[in-house]
Order: sequence, then structure tokens, then C-alpha cells
Amino acid sequence: MERITHQDVPAICALYKRVWEPAPDGVPTEFAKSWMPTPLEFTSWMEGITYFAARRDGRLIGVVGLETRRGAGRLVHLAVDPDSRRQGVATALVKVAIDWAKHANAPAVWTDALARFSVARSLFLHLGFTEAGLLHRHEWGEDIRLFELQL
Ligand SMILES: CC(C)(COP(=O)(O)OP(=O)(O)OC[C@H]1O[C@@H](n2cnc3c(N)ncnc32)[C@H](O)[C@@H]1OP(=O)(O)O)[C@@H](O)C(=O)NCCC(=O)NCCS
Repeated sequence: MERITHQDVPAICALYKRVWEPAPDGVPTEFAKSWMPTPLEFTSWMEGITYFAARRDGRLIGVVGLETRRGAGRLVHLAVDPDSRRQGVATALVKVAIDWAKHANAPAVWTDALARFSVARSLFLHLGFTEAGLLHRHEWGEDIRLFELQL
């Protein structure tokens, strides 16, 4: 697990494509598209967000971002390569991001996910987050679940 560099940008964009193309069943294409930045778009995301990557044998297999706003940490853009799932990669990435938030004295970390993503819900509950609410038809008509963790 380590922070990414500008050299990682093409590999990260390729990873998001492997995860979101084609869009999973029922997921609006606009949502999937918003998770597939071009290298230029991702470079601008990097200006406000600290990203961490997981690698295996030199290959990038997972990524997560931590955005700090008004003192709280927000996890964004979490994705793990379909071939590397259920091996603790997301767990390790989120833990690194939480440690980073603690180091920055954030009192809490929060995140959100499409309500239909039961796997994301299981992951965040497994990591000690609690469900903090539901925004109805919030992103392209989809409900969004909020999760929070007090540090
Ligand atoms: C959600 C995602 C990041 C999980 O990554 P992962 O590396 O497979 O997750 P982990 O191996 O760390 O799983 C940790 C825990 O989460 C839960 N979990 C993960 N995958 C699960 C699944 N398919 N079904 C049920 N629970 C699951 C389990 O509690 C698991 O612990 P366990 O394996 O000991 O039972 C990955 O599936 C992914 O990239 N999905 C597509 C993108 C996405 O949904 N991003 C999140 C949007 S917020």
C-alpha cells in the first residue's frame, strides 16, 4: 500500500475501466462513466484528494482516495480489480486511508455508496463503519447510502 504518483495515472484509469466497463447490472451508465476518468480528469482529482494504491507483483490492483474537507475525511473512488477481490485488498486500502485521516487529526471518516451495492455495504460494516443515512434518488435516480466511522 502506498501513495500514488503521476506515473500511476494510466494504470489507475485502466483499473477503473476494468471495474466499471461494462456498467454492472442496473447501474446507470452515467454513474459508471463518472467512475472512469480520463488521465487528464484523474490528474485534476489528484489535486484535492490523496490516493493510495495496492500492488501485487508490480501490478496495480486497487485504489482508494481520501478527501479532507472541513476537518473530516471522506473515502472516494474505491475500486479493486475483479481478479483480486475477496482477498482483503479493499480492507487494507481503507485501513491505510483511515490511518492517514487519524494522522491528520480528523475526528471522523465518512463515505457513500449506491444503495444497490450490497458488497460495499458489507465491506464498510465489516470495517466498523455505521450506516448514517440514505439519500433518495440522489445520483442519476439512484439511492445513496452514507457510512461513518468515528476515529
Ligand atoms: C467493494 C470492493 C471494493 C471490495 O473489495 P475487496 O478487496 O474484494 O474487499 P475485501 O476482500 O477487503 O472484503 C472485506 C469484507 O467485505 C465484505 N465483502 C467483500 N466482498 C464481498 C462479497 N462479494 N459479498 C459479501 N461480502 C463481501 C466481507 O465482509 C469481506 O470480509 P470477508 O472476506 O472476511 O468475509 C470491490 O468489490 C469492488 O471494487 N467493487 C466494485 C466497485 C465498488 O463497488 N466500489 C465501492 C463503491 S463505494
